[in-house]
Amino acid sequence: MNAESMIRDLEEKGFVEEELPAGTDLRGEILRMKKEKNAVILAHYYQRPEIQDIADFVGDSLGLSRQAAGTDADIILFAGVHFMAETAKILNPSRKVLIPDLRAGCSLESSCPPDKFRDFISRHPGHTVVTYINCSAEVKAMSDIICTSSNAAQVVASIEPGIPVIFAPDHNLGKYVMKKTGRQMFLWNGQCDVHEAFSMDKINALRKIYPSAKFIAHPESEEKLLEQAVFIGSTSALIGFVKKDPSDVFIVATEAGILHQMRKEVTGKKLIAAPAYENNTCACSECSFMKLNTMEKIYTTLKYEIPEIIIPEPIRLRALLPLQRMMQVSEQPGLSVAPASHAAN
Ligand code: 13P
Ligand code: SF4
Repeated sequence: MNAESMIRDLEEKGFVEEELPAGTDLRGEILRMKKEKNAVILAHYYQRPEIQDIADFVGDSLGLSRQAAGTDADIILFAGVHFMAETAKILNPSRKVLIPDLRAGCSLESSCPPDKFRDFISRHPGHTVVTYINCSAEVKAMSDIICTSSNAAQVVASIEPGIPVIFAPDHNLGKYVMKKTGRQMFLWNGQCDVHEAFSMDKINALRKIYPSAKFIAHPESEEKLLEQAVFIGSTSALIGFVKKDPSDVFIVATEAGILHQMRKEVTGKKLIAAPAYENNTCACSECSFMKLNTMEKIYTTLKYEIPEIIIPEPIRLRALLPLQRMMQVSEQPGLSVAPASHAAN
């Protein structure tokens, strides 16, 4: 394949498309190239099962960030969405970071365009800006501290009392953190389309069929759902809960890809993906961005080492600081940080 057609593919499709000979052993070839090139594959729990099964590490946003920061592999192939691969590059810039499909975005990220966010910050001077990791590098660069779903309450609690706080972009997570910490915050009005699509009516119908089922949810879900959940947590925390809890049936409100890893870690329990409003056919919720990644794309990404994540150095450096603050707070529970409130830049 020549360079010109690869560039055209990247521009038009977001990935390099190559017809593979019939019978290509994708798994075998990916594992071979991974070893040859000293690459590591990091995969989020929402990835397709076959991708999770070839990954060196499968985890939630925080776990994946830690892995990315600490790896000495020459190449990080990030089987997740764009903001996750960008985070890996911000944290470990000397590695080549690849993503199988450049179009793998996130509705939370696109709900928070950098120019509008800059304007929002400048209209709230003196506020500490807490940003959920599901945002662009540019938005991270405007933030004081980043959080993930597993440490959002801890991050907010680490900010000295009395300092006004902006929380962006997920308003559901923001509301949940306000309830948990008792801290008032100015919320950006963004949402995850997957977690907003769950149907409480359909979930209640399932609960009638399985009266002993425990309903658990990711904090990106709507308040009315979270009020019904017996446990709320990040993807890793949801898996941890199902492993520890003695119940036999669970209805899980997060992206359905998580069930693959849950089923690997938990045997003999019935795990049901919470159904979405319009989704009558498979009664499950999938993130179309996460599902853009395929074994074929991982193969061509490793083979040609594109698409690669490139971030302008001034933005990377500004985005690094709030990520490092998050890591510090996560690693030292109880740590208090009073990040200098940000002038919109
Ligand atoms: P966590 O991986 O932190 O649970 O977040 C889920 C998510 O929506 C990632 O896009
Ligand atoms: Fe973004 Fe939601 Fe998809 Fe996660 S599940 S990547 S938050 S759109």
